[in-house]
Amino acid sequence: MTQPIAGQRSHSDTEILELLKRAINTDPPDQVLNKTAKILRKNKEFYNWVGIYLVNGDNLVLAAYAGDNETEHVTIPIGNGICGLAAKQGATVIVPDVNKDPRYLMCFPSTRSEIVVPIKSGSRVLGEIDIDSDHLSAFTGKDQNLLEEAAIILASHLEKQTL
Ligand code: SME
Repeated sequence: MTQPIAGQRSHSDTEILELLKRAINTDPPDQVLNKTAKILRKNKEFYNWVGIYLVNGDNLVLAAYAGDNETEHVTIPIGNGICGLAAKQGATVIVPDVNKDPRYLMCFPSTRSEIVVPIKSGSRVLGEIDIDSDHLSAFTGKDQNLLEEAAIILASHLEKQTL
């Protein structure tokens, strides 16, 4: 499941985090979220759709995504769905089988599992990374660690934007 696409080398998790740091330091600020979504999707074959939502009032609003399809859930009230749950709790949520979780809001019929990782400044939730996989039980503690580190990097970027 973690095999690279033929002819391409997938980066290690450490390298992925270095790529994200580099993007934040060198890319135009308004392109950082798009670049982050692309880096994550490209380097993990089972990250089929990678979205970054930002908190706006009582809602999560889709700010960037990398994936083959658009989602109709571009605005999600905090508290709704898996995305809204992770934002409300301020903690990562992993759903191994979305078809067995009544809280799940369906975006793509092919999705089997999902991980949502809040992006936080202290205890304040600024946004989140939402990843859908077409594989059952795709996400492990290794993904949680990678994405929580990525969320810390993104938080430093978002904090700079609001200064
Ligand atoms: N499945 C999410 C909604 C967003 S889509 O995955 C893009 C949820 O349950 O909140």
